[in-house]
Amino acid sequence: MAKINQNFNKLPGSYLFTKIAKNVAQYQAKNPDDVLIKMGIGDVTRPLAPAVIESMHKAVDEMGTFEGFHGYGPEQGYDFLRSLIVENDYKSRGVNLDIDEVFVSDGAKSDCGNIVDLFDVDNVVAVCDPVYPVYVDTNAMSGRAGDFGADGKWTKLYYMPCLEENGFLPQIPDKKVDMIYLCFPNNPTGMTANKTELKKWVDYARANGSVILFDSAYEAFISDMDVPHSIYEIEGAKEVAIEFRSFSKTAGFTGTRCAYTVVPKELVVEGTSLNAMWLRRQCSKFNGVPYVVQKAAAAVYSEKGKEEVKETIAYYKKNAEVIYNGLKEAGFTVYGGVNSPYVWMKTPDNKGSWEFFDFLLDKANVVTTPGEGFGPSGEGFIRLTAFNTYENTVEAVNRIKKIM
Ligand code: MLT
Repeated sequence: MAKINQNFNKLPGSYLFTKIAKNVAQYQAKNPDDVLIKMGIGDVTRPLAPAVIESMHKAVDEMGTFEGFHGYGPEQGYDFLRSLIVENDYKSRGVNLDIDEVFVSDGAKSDCGNIVDLFDVDNVVAVCDPVYPVYVDTNAMSGRAGDFGADGKWTKLYYMPCLEENGFLPQIPDKKVDMIYLCFPNNPTGMTANKTELKKWVDYARANGSVILFDSAYEAFISDMDVPHSIYEIEGAKEVAIEFRSFSKTAGFTGTRCAYTVVPKELVVEGTSLNAMWLRRQCSKFNGVPYVVQKAAAAVYSEKGKEEVKETIAYYKKNAEVIYNGLKEAGFTVYGGVNSPYVWMKTPDNKGSWEFFDFLLDKANVVTTPGEGFGPSGEGFIRLTAFNTYENTVEAVNRIKKIM
């Protein structure tokens, strides 16, 4: 008889954003006339940049010719895109990478989840709390998290509470941990870490033989000069860190799917190159991102593409400012929103985050994300995203102000 992976039975409920989508669909079915404004999942709303579309069209046409047709591509991405990434995202910031340290993929979410294939089940995994649920769920699925307790925590994970008291920054563990997930600008709090903070983590990882899994999917939203865009801006980080990046939030690719992961060759664990392991894993399990999509992503680095993408980011950043300032003026305690598309808002009168989520859905018809969905320390907060239209963002803030 076949046996299933019993770790799946340990997972509580459904994936956070699936649960929210279900709750919202149920609410809408009961209240069909309510016009909802969605500020829950971080899904973009602005169309792809014209430069991206032009490049994609051209690639589609090429695919219709004998000369320009592309079948299976390299699993790790075409060199035309990998070299643009190396030049534009890293060299420009003083980080030298070889193109074979860059692996193009269909999403940072998939890569963050798949990377666990490289690690032993007995590794101690440290996660921020609150945290992007993918890191936790995927380690739970592969048996590295233990059991899910009544306190909302997995028994084998090491939680790093990110609270108002510590500026929402994870503190260096007081014990030895093996895999450390860091995400800056942070999802969900929208907070950032400067070079001094990141250096502490690189030093810790070097001293303890740990690997940092650094998610910088939101780096395009950084405007403060002292906030690093990549962990590799910290000396020694290439020996200890893997970095995940995405075109989703940077260039509106949530539906188009393109991202990349950097696995430096200096990253060697137990005498084995993680770069070689990841290549091996990708070649066996992944057939690469479509040529057309990689051509679209390459256009993000053209002069025109850069300008257009910059405008889109500025648009969302303006929305984040509207949310942050509007809610602050209304007397709420808010965080993030400056180098990030996310605003982390404290619920009034210590309301539970699901209770406040329901309240905002019902009374303001605004969809948010309850902080508790990101971990126990997210209780008492909700997350709002800046990815809706400017008009809807202004309207949502006004509606929230009106009902409070
Ligand atoms: C989020 O809302 O946290 C993200 O959009 C989800 C994702 O990127 O997978």
